[in-house]
Amino acid sequence: MNLLGQFDAEVCGKEIRDDSNFQWRVARAPQGSLQPDDFSWVESPVTEPGACEVLLKTLYLGLAPVMRMYMQGGAAAGEVPLRPGDLIHGRGVAQVIKSRHPHWREGDLVQGQIGWQTYKVSAMTPAEKMFRVHLHGLPALYACKTLGMTGLSAHAGLFACGEPRADDTLVLSGAAGGVGSIVSQLAANVAGCRVIGIAGGPEKCDLVGQQGCVAAIDYKSDDLQQRLKDLCPHGIDCYFDNVGGETLATVLEHLAHRARIVLCGSISEYAREQPFGLTNYTRLRSKDARMQGFFVYNHLDRWETVMAELAGWIHDGRLRPRHDVTAGFQNMPKALARLYAGLNQGAAICDVRGEPESSL
Ligand SMILES: NC(=O)c1ccc[n+]([C@@H]2O[C@H](COP(=O)([O-])OP(=O)(O)OC[C@H]3O[C@@H](n4cnc5c(N)ncnc54)[C@H](OP(=O)(O)O)[C@@H]3O)[C@@H](O)[C@H]2O)c1
Repeated sequence: MNLLGQFDAEVCGKEIRDDSNFQWRVARAPQGSLQPDDFSWVESPVTEPGACEVLLKTLYLGLAPVMRMYMQGGAAAGEVPLRPGDLIHGRGVAQVIKSRHPHWREGDLVQGQIGWQTYKVSAMTPAEKMFRVHLHGLPALYACKTLGMTGLSAHAGLFACGEPRADDTLVLSGAAGGVGSIVSQLAANVAGCRVIGIAGGPEKCDLVGQQGCVAAIDYKSDDLQQRLKDLCPHGIDCYFDNVGGETLATVLEHLAHRARIVLCGSISEYAREQPFGLTNYTRLRSKDARMQGFFVYNHLDRWETVMAELAGWIHDGRLRPRHDVTAGFQNMPKALARLYAGLNQGAAICDVRGEPESSL
């Protein structure tokens, strides 16, 4: 069944060429589930770089749940809220194809805030958070998410906030997604935790089992309360939360003494009109537990160290990145909608110049 078939018709007739810049912009603030009419397709000439600027050609763009929040004009940390007509924010990997900048040469690879477009002229300012890509012997695709903000989020959230210890029982939600698939492997294979993953559907639960988890819980069909009781008889030492809402509330009923809860994301709440009102946060008190949020942009000072560490774990087999690649820039709106429909497995990436598929 093609769950997002309404996006396929919108792709027809849209082709990207090298002689123009193609963009996806906000057409209107999304309400409820994402729709093709929330996005507008714009073609414009490719601009020449000025003094101290470069022309970038986009290779890969990452998809992230937060993009929908940007489109809604909400106060999403780190980037300017968007209004109808604005270019949609998006980080990815690009190549310098013309340079009038003293520090960048043609051919250099860049990771940063490119936006949903096929070319970008950039002064490479700190506001764009551009990083030189060091591939560490890995394909350029890896620099889009695993050796990018997704990898940094997983690393910072797990190690700096979660402080995992060997033999901890660590539970995570969104376990088959981009951040989650990295966290589960690092928690199991680097920190030595006993990891239990929560994900939607049997296929994703199978996948979670291949990522170092000793057990998987299907939140769509299992009794989460009962499964946590059975699987965590001594309580949960660390919970890495990607989804918020009812799942977080249920986990709070199963904490171990001095448990740590990492607030990474709350995707179950992003499309709701009213946020979920968490009432049982007081469970932290009786367990001397703590709940700590983090924002990836506050951890950028450790970029090089973390990327080198992640690359090392990929090379020694402790981290096997899973990429969910959509081919063709035309399919960006559908690729974002896939996250909210739970269709992605691993880190969601658009191969901008890949051959678009008729049905994803
Ligand atoms: N704090 C930070 O700095 C930071 C940085 C990056 C990301 N994040 C957050 O981390 C989380 C994961 O991001 P990601 O980029 O790795 O996305 P992702 O996990 O690859 O994709 C989103 C996944 O969320 C699940 N989902 C969708 N709707 C849901 C719902 N209503 N209830 C429960 N689960 C739902 C789906 O998996 P299932 O099929 O399993 O439901 C979907 O595959 C997001 O909440 C994101 O906002 C935070």
